[in-house]
Amino acid sequence: MAGSRLILALDVYERKRALEIARETADYLWAIKVNWPLIIGSGLGIITELKQVTGLPVIADLKLADIPNTNRLIAGKVFEAGADYIIAHGFPGKDSVEAVMELGETIIVVEMSHPGAKEFIQPVTDKLIALANELEPFGVIAPATRPERVAYIRSKLNEKIRILTPGVGAQGGKAGEVLRAGADYVIVGRSIYESDNPGESARLIYEESLGVWGWS
Ligand code: XMP
Repeated sequence: MAGSRLILALDVYERKRALEIARETADYLWAIKVNWPLIIGSGLGIITELKQVTGLPVIADLKLADIPNTNRLIAGKVFEAGADYIIAHGFPGKDSVEAVMELGETIIVVEMSHPGAKEFIQPVTDKLIALANELEPFGVIAPATRPERVAYIRSKLNEKIRILTPGVGAQGGKAGEVLRAGADYVIVGRSIYESDNPGESARLIYEESLGVWGWS
């Protein structure tokens, strides 16, 4: 939906269930993010189907982290299946990210939401932000579980680059808080797809994000 800042992380295996949840929640979403569980469980064609069924952009969260040639081989097939954006890690270096960016819109991970992110990724976030500022991808991934880090990343990042934040709900992040800290989009998985009523859960988060932006 135009104006939505909510991205559904559709981490189920089964095609039928995925399409059902996508239909129930589509009215409240800006985009759908697919990750390895759904691609492994249902095949790459699920990207094409989700786009046909919902008309929404699809983000392929592959967290590509390989040499440029392998990143290129993977990204080529995934964009061909209809993905609008691919998420890639920045730490393998500029050439690996560029290989993806040459084929389509890219989102670079600059920090992660889980506790272990403090060990290796957070210490190099500044370098990953610098890489993003140089390459100017569509967006970066930052942790909704640490709104103060989102505010920090926003302060260092070129203002044209969007910030997408996973970690809302099951991992403890709050949509309103992280959007106020400077995120452009929140990514929510389990709190929606594991709920008894995914459509209603998506509506509640959608409305929380409208409140932050004063859109109504
Ligand atoms: P949940 O169920 O925790 O799902 O709402 C979150 C989704 O987002 C992915 N995820 C991340 N992706 N950096 C990323 O690039 C992160 O820090 C991060 N944290 C969660 C996760 O794989 C799932 O699809």
